[in-house]
Amino acid sequence: MKLLAAAFLLLSSLCGCAEATNEPVVGGPCEGCEYVFVDMPKTITSRAQIAPVDEKGEALVVEGTVRHSDGKAASGIVVYAYQTDAGGIYPAGSTRHGRLRGWARTDSEGHYRFATIRPGAYPGGSNPQHIHMHVIEPRKATYFIDDVHFTDDPLLTAKHRQGEESRRGGSGIGTPERDAQGVWHVRRDIVLGENVPGYR
Ligand SMILES: [Fe+2]
Repeated sequence: MKLLAAAFLLLSSLCGCAEATNEPVVGGPCEGCEYVFVDMPKTITSRAQIAPVDEKGEALVVEGTVRHSDGKAASGIVVYAYQTDAGGIYPAGSTRHGRLRGWARTDSEGHYRFATIRPGAYPGGSNPQHIHMHVIEPRKATYFIDDVHFTDDPLLTAKHRQGEESRRGGSGIGTPERDAQGVWHVRRDIVLGENVPGYR
């Protein structure tokens, strides 16, 4: 038996299986929640890239602070994001989330940052520009939160702005501002588990 246990431990360490702990999904049905773990890098830092630097579109930085419900900064939380390209399409990738996706892990002050481009709205549709976001709380839970939306988007109507008090993870609606280099910046602060059913 000792030999078997030793062999298992050796295999686990070789394949990284011991770390393969996909967190349980909370917050109700979640289409594509399993994709957050597909291709997830082993090492995730607080600054990540969603679109490559040569991606066509207007450069955008999405950043924010992740906090617990008591307001304390939450470090070590993984924020996953995916989006359309500048033409409003999810460009082909290894999952239906497409290739424009990334993972950032909050630093000691709860901060994360994604460099990307402004997503295009779906062609011919009425859905506003958006970036999908999920939270992975290590060894606890994963769930989706409200999309990032932009107040300067003409497709973001009063209807989309309703229900501010019941946003998952806090509001995703942000006002983008352009810096001197022409790069857009928008904040998406996150409150862990806020308005996520079944979250404890
Ligand atoms: Fe979408």
